[in-house]
Amino acid sequence: MLILGIETSCDETAAALVQDGLRLRSNIIASQVELHAHYGGVVPEVASRQHMLQMVPVVERALHQAGASWDNVDAIAVTYGPGLAGSLMVGVNMAKAIAYARRLPLYGINHLEGHVYAAWLEGHRPDLSPGFPLVCLVASGGHTDLLLMEDHGHYQLLGMTRDDAAGESFDKAARLLGLGFPGGPAIQRASQSIPLHTVRQQLPRAWMRGTLDFSFSGLKTAVLHKAQEQGLEGGASAGRQQEVAELASAFQESVVEVLTVKTLEAAAQTGAKGIILGGGVTANARLRERLHAQAGGLPVFIPSPGLCVDNAAMIAACAYYHAGRRQPDGYDLDVVPSLKLG
Ligand code: KG4
Ligand code: ZN
Repeated sequence: MLILGIETSCDETAAALVQDGLRLRSNIIASQVELHAHYGGVVPEVASRQHMLQMVPVVERALHQAGASWDNVDAIAVTYGPGLAGSLMVGVNMAKAIAYARRLPLYGINHLEGHVYAAWLEGHRPDLSPGFPLVCLVASGGHTDLLLMEDHGHYQLLGMTRDDAAGESFDKAARLLGLGFPGGPAIQRASQSIPLHTVRQQLPRAWMRGTLDFSFSGLKTAVLHKAQEQGLEGGASAGRQQEVAELASAFQESVVEVLTVKTLEAAAQTGAKGIILGGGVTANARLRERLHAQAGGLPVFIPSPGLCVDNAAMIAACAYYHAGRRQPDGYDLDVVPSLKLG
């Protein structure tokens, strides 16, 4: 079964073709990052307009890269939430138009569930080996959710952020350190130049003891205070890049430690057989390294960085498992900007 996936929930216009929920036939992403970097963050109206301009060429490129024609496509999958309403509408309307014109089944997919299914795209079948239940950490620009996946389509929310999402905190910390947008890759890059044992700065960790919830807004304030104390706010003046990088590295360590410890705690508490990571923040090299190092014997699935960030292949992969167990959506499929999972 060949599924065309479409993803426009935030600032990437993406289309992909995936065979049987596993085999990546094409994966096209038109990033708007440079457009938004100019404003220091995603501007919703700019994003929707850009999706409108990119949507058709991106779908055409996805077909072309796969060497497929419309006759080969069996179903259409599209993100219908969570995300920016105007952005989601562009993808959903495109998907409906194709489904209508080609008389193909249409599946609306939860973006967060899509991030979980990126783990199926590189030769693994976490559902078969090690099998359910699996603990999933979805950490992105808008979410930091710990979920127990008990079966395909069955999720229990174990914990979530009470304030900022992990990605949002990377973006905010990078902005106040003058490191640019998006913040995650900028902070990772700055931290790489600093050997860990030389970092003397310590920033707080919000453990939210007794829960599997997260909180990152206090950490952002702590970075702000340190930056103000040291005269580093808004970016490094010449010769002070080292101090900015040290603060960035201390920030990264704090977020990574909390995400690692709480994910492993969730797995231990639930008796999960394995761990799946997904979402832009899980592209972070330090997080990947620490989770693999500390997981003991537990299998950990972390997609390649390019599949952790927003893409349409994960949406198509996820839709394959929907197609196996439910009816397609109708043309009344609407966008749900605050859609939840679990
Ligand atoms: O999943 P994603 O691409 O979009 C959303 O669904 O939000 O996640 C984007 C977020 C941004 O906040 C970005 O700063 C963060 O993921 N991110 C990273 C890294 N790459 C992207 N955070 C930490 N380290 C990275 N290498
Ligand atoms: Zn995402």
